[in-house]
Amino acid sequence: MDRIDAVTAPTAPVTTAHRPVLVVDYGAQYAQLIARRVREAYVYSEIVPHTFSTEQLLAKNPAAIILSGGPSSVYAEGAPAVGADLFAAGVPVFGICYGFQAMARALGGTVAQTGLREYGATDATALAGASSILEGTPELQNVWMSHGDSVQEAPEGFEVLACTAGAPVAAFADPARKLYGVQWHPEVKHSDFGQTVLENFLFREAGLEPDWTTGNVIDEQVERVRAQIGTGRAICGLSGGVDSAVAAALVQKAIGDQLTCVFVNHGLLREGEAEQVERDFVAATGARLYVANEQERFLSALAGVTDPETKRKIIGREFIRAFEAAEAAIVAEAADAGEPVRFLVQGTLYPDVVESGGGEGAANIKSHHNVGGLPEDLQFELVEPLRSLFKDEVRSVGAQLGLPAEIVGRQPFPGPGLGIRIIGAVDEERLALLRKADAIARAELTASGLDSEVWQMPVVLLADVRSVGVQGDGRTYGHPIVLRPVSSEDAMTADWSRLPYDLLARISNRITNEVDGVNRVVLDVTSKPPGTIEWE
Ligand code: XMP
Repeated sequence: MDRIDAVTAPTAPVTTAHRPVLVVDYGAQYAQLIARRVREAYVYSEIVPHTFSTEQLLAKNPAAIILSGGPSSVYAEGAPAVGADLFAAGVPVFGICYGFQAMARALGGTVAQTGLREYGATDATALAGASSILEGTPELQNVWMSHGDSVQEAPEGFEVLACTAGAPVAAFADPARKLYGVQWHPEVKHSDFGQTVLENFLFREAGLEPDWTTGNVIDEQVERVRAQIGTGRAICGLSGGVDSAVAAALVQKAIGDQLTCVFVNHGLLREGEAEQVERDFVAATGARLYVANEQERFLSALAGVTDPETKRKIIGREFIRAFEAAEAAIVAEAADAGEPVRFLVQGTLYPDVVESGGGEGAANIKSHHNVGGLPEDLQFELVEPLRSLFKDEVRSVGAQLGLPAEIVGRQPFPGPGLGIRIIGAVDEERLALLRKADAIARAELTASGLDSEVWQMPVVLLADVRSVGVQGDGRTYGHPIVLRPVSSEDAMTADWSRLPYDLLARISNRITNEVDGVNRVVLDVTSKPPGTIEWE
């Protein structure tokens, strides 16, 4: 996933004409998932921090508000509270898990620490006659729970809709005030009727229309980009990945040849990647493309470096230098030579915006280098047409803009490329070896029809490890290749993909037979956490 970098102001607003459903983030990872589920119902949603005052929330003119789950107990010291004034504003509000308890507490209900915790799959029973947000769901339903405290008594005016063994009030509604809540997590797929409950809130109770589509996004963003750039000139770094390609295609649609795309070939690409950008992207968009062949620059800077963070920093630094050189060349070549490029297009996505703007101190696990990203002193004004979108929405925008399936459907590939998939120093020989193994693994995965089952499948060369093997009649002492297929929704967490054994066998046979210097293929069976997706 492309990451936000230092030049993007984290607080810049996400812009769209639709009134948002605001998801108030009480921590944990649920808020993003809730926002996605709302958008899957074709309703526009945005995440805001729980530190927003009622005034700030209402200033966004929300169509409805959802209070998310969170890790806190409403009794914990410093636990975020909800101002009771929010519930008197006439905006429909739906509390989930922590948000449900915070709502109950703010309105005079009782929340208790009973010691009866519920985690994971739980049976919820609807009370006789309950409908509202439970309309169309069965009396007994499987819901996903994660709570210690529970609501014992609903506030005055609320009807209790459901209970579980550990939660006498597991769902409630006050249709007169348009206030609703559930103890469980409807946004999690393990809650069998989760999406129905969420859509009941949006459509039945809050009266919203499902009218937000990625088609609207294209029209809206094309207008905005035109207004922002006017007659100016823009450049866009292409990484070969989905995000930068879609951002570039959208801006190209808006301003045509005022945009030049820059593709830095750093020599750490996979087989066929440079050709794909040069041929397929240009064919689909007609965009002007400047290719900077900078393999030598990167390889000499990386020579002998084994530390992962040092590699990432070097690649980031050299990328900036290569990009600056490219920009200078573009300006010199242009008909109106001397007119500087004022705008830089970046494929920043919504999760990047949320992660960097959340300000809750997400740990810096790795310094993610966004290949489209550049330092502050280049003084570009940023153009970020995708900053309100999730990855799957970006793919859908890309497809509507006519980008080929090979680009739109691509697995995420990190900016530092194969440089961080060689464990040990990077050199041309090792890159060639890994490129070959990677191409085989990708081809076999595609041939098996399982591309859509995996989020991505890094192929890693353990260049500093050797093991003994036997091939033909002789002893070998070669390197292992690691296959790291993972399934994930957003790369924040991941699980290892259970690929069929016969597919793994084919990949292993082909790699050990066809790639000189590799005599062993191993499978990484670690989830994230504890392992990250990439090895470096
Ligand atoms: P990790 O290894 O942190 O990766 O679990 C999460 C996702 O991010 C991708 N990734 C990167 N993407 N620049 C990028 O644009 C980077 O430096 C980078 N490092 C990791 C990784 O492939 C996975 O999808």
